[in-house]
Amino acid sequence: MYLKQSNRFESFHEQHKKMRKGKTSEIENAYRFSIAPMLDCTDSHFRVLMRQISKRALLYTEMIVAKALEHEQGRKLLRFQEIEHPIALQVGGDDPNVLSAAACLAEDWGFDEINLNVGCPSPRVQSGNFGACLMSQKKEVAKCVEAMKKKVKIPVTIKHRTGIDDYDSYEFLTEFVDEIASAGADRFIIHARKAWLKGLNPKQNRTIPPLEYSKVAKLKQERNHLKIEFNGGINTPDECIKALKSFDGVMVGRAAYAHPLLWQTMDAKIFNENHKAITASKVIKGIIPYAENHLNNNGRLWDIGKHILQLVEGVPGARAWRREVSLKAQSSKADISVLEAAAKQLEERGL
Ligand SMILES: Cc1cc2nc3c(=O)[nH]c(=O)nc-3n(C[C@H](O)[C@H](O)[C@H](O)COP(=O)(O)O)c2cc1C
Repeated sequence: MYLKQSNRFESFHEQHKKMRKGKTSEIENAYRFSIAPMLDCTDSHFRVLMRQISKRALLYTEMIVAKALEHEQGRKLLRFQEIEHPIALQVGGDDPNVLSAAACLAEDWGFDEINLNVGCPSPRVQSGNFGACLMSQKKEVAKCVEAMKKKVKIPVTIKHRTGIDDYDSYEFLTEFVDEIASAGADRFIIHARKAWLKGLNPKQNRTIPPLEYSKVAKLKQERNHLKIEFNGGINTPDECIKALKSFDGVMVGRAAYAHPLLWQTMDAKIFNENHKAITASKVIKGIIPYAENHLNNNGRLWDIGKHILQLVEGVPGARAWRREVSLKAQSSKADISVLEAAAKQLEERGL
C-alpha cells in the first residue's frame, strides 16, 4: 500500500531535503516558537498567511486522523505549499501500524515533523480511543511512538496534557513522559492543563482546568535532557520570551489565530532575524498569488478570506472593514478583486 522502505528515503523526502539544503538548522530550531494545531483554523490557507508574518515559526497542521491517510482521498490532506516549511503534521490514532504508515507518508510528502495528538478531549476523538484519553495508556502510546520512530528520520513528537480526570498528579505526568521518552520521542509539547474527559466540552477544556505552569516547569527542570515545550494561555510575544527561559519551545494557539500580526516580531526576538515591519495590507497582498491559484483550482475565496479578518483590529473602522470583507468574500461569485480592494482600502490608511 505504501512505498517500500528501501526506496522511500530516495523519494520525496530526499529530493525535498536537497532542495532545502542549508535550511536544516533553521528547521531544527523552529520549535522554539510554534503555531498550535487548531481544527478549522490552521489549514494550509492560514499557514500561508502566517508565513507572511513569521518565516521561522514551526507551523502545525490541524489534527488529521491517521487512518484517513490510508485512503487515496485522505492524502489530499497532506498537500501543502513549499512556503509553509517548517511544517509539522499532527495525527491522531492509537494503532502503531497505522501511525507508522502515517509517519512514512508525512516524511515522503516532505513534512519536517510528525506529531501525535494525546491532548484532544472531544467525545468523537475519545470514541476512537485517541487524543487525551491515551494519557492513561502510556504503554500503548509508547508502542505507537516507537513504531513511528523506527520508520522515519524526521522528529516524532507528542502533544499532551498534564493529566486527565483524576490522573492529575505530578507523578502521573512524569511517569507518562518517562515512558514516552524511552520510546524515543524527540520532543514533548505540553498543553499545561489537565482535561476532563467527561463533563467538559473541548472549549471548556481549554479554559476551565487551570494552567499548571510550575508543574511543567518543574518537569523540565528535573528532566533537563528532554526537549519540553510549553503550551497554553500565552498571549503576547513577551510572555513567550519569558517562557523560553524555562522551556525549549513555546507553542501559541488562540492568540496567534486571533491576533496574527502581533507575532511579527518573533523572528527578530527569537531567531535574530532583521525585523521588517509588516502591515495587514502587505499580508493580504502577499497571499494574493496563492489565492489566485486556489481560485483557479475551483477553490472558494472565503476559504482564504475568513482567515484575513483578524488582521485588522483595534483601529477605527476595523469592524466595518471586517463586515464588508466577510460579506463580499462569502459570495459564490467572489474573485480576487475582493482581496485586492480589501488590501487597497487598508493601504490607503497606512495599515
Ligand atoms: C479551534 C481550536 C482547535 C484546536 N484543534 C486542535 C487540534 O487539532 N489538535 C491539537 O492538538 N490541539 C488542538 N487545539 C488545542 C490547541 O492546539 C492548544 O493546545 C490550546 O488552544 C491551548 O493553547 P492556547 O492557549 O495558546 O490557545 C485546538 C484549539 C482550538 C482553539
